Amino acid sequence: MKLEKYQELVSRLFSGIRDADTKKAYQEVFDADTVATIYKLMESGYIKELGNVISTGKEANVFYAVDETDTPVAVKIYRINTTEFRHLWKYIEGDPRVRIPKRNRRTIIYQWARREFKNLETAHKHNVRVPFPIVHRKNVIVMEYIGNENNPAPLLKEYLPEDRENFVEDLLNSLANLYYSAEIVHADLSEYNILVWEDLPYIIDMGQSMTWDHPLAYEFFYRDMNQLLKILQKLGKDYKTPHEVIAELRRRAKG
Ligand SMILES: Nc1ncnc2c1ncn2[C@@H]1O[C@H](COP(=O)(O)OP(=O)(O)OP(=O)(O)O)[C@@H](O)[C@H]1O
Ligand SMILES: [Mg+2]
Repeated sequence: MKLEKYQELVSRLFSGIRDADTKKAYQEVFDADTVATIYKLMESGYIKELGNVISTGKEANVFYAVDETDTPVAVKIYRINTTEFRHLWKYIEGDPRVRIPKRNRRTIIYQWARREFKNLETAHKHNVRVPFPIVHRKNVIVMEYIGNENNPAPLLKEYLPEDRENFVEDLLNSLANLYYSAEIVHADLSEYNILVWEDLPYIIDMGQSMTWDHPLAYEFFYRDMNQLLKILQKLGKDYKTPHEVIAELRRRAKG
């Protein structure tokens, strides 16, 4: 993309934004290709207007936006130029065993976003409570926004539901469906990746999630189950070992 065109697009995308943190969060992810990608999503109506930043994470920033019909959506943009990646690159670059041409970094990140989108789609089809995945393009995912106009849904880490019985029921059913019906291992399950909205659990952040045939699936599965055990204990349930939790999920998957 020509520089003038890029600058024109950026100034149009930024036109409504006053908040300094939000501006900074956009600058982190807005390389020329990402601007073009957002612009295409705007042309096709998936995004009408970008809003405030919801989160600035290690690999991606998440923004509030509205679509053509003014319905709120969440836009997750994976950074092409993460410091993380640049840091890793130092190690990979000098290693003769690892030959990834530099230009492929972009492709790897696109695949990562695509994988998260596919995982959300599969999970949703199998009745796992996840934000509904709307569209993905290159390093950008558009999904259902969980929250209201003023605030995104809090993390389970920050907020415990009032009706814990019902919350736990819903969580266990969702996870039984995820692991045994969708056959996906989340691989980063924790109270940081569960949102609480209207007293119900929404599972998020599935970029690293994998199917059971992945060589590390069992390792991550046990990590997830240890995290789930902690979550259930915090919610007042008296499970004592990860094996009890696994048995509970399997029982629900069969039932
Ligand atoms: N659909 C959504 N609706 C509302 N908020 C969301 C949504 N998806 C993500 N968020 C918010 O954005 C944050 C980051 O999302 P996510 O966990 O998917 O990204 P991440 O790359 O793992 O970020 P981090 O590196 O911080 O873990 C979440 O903790 C949550 O607060
Ligand atoms: Mg996360």
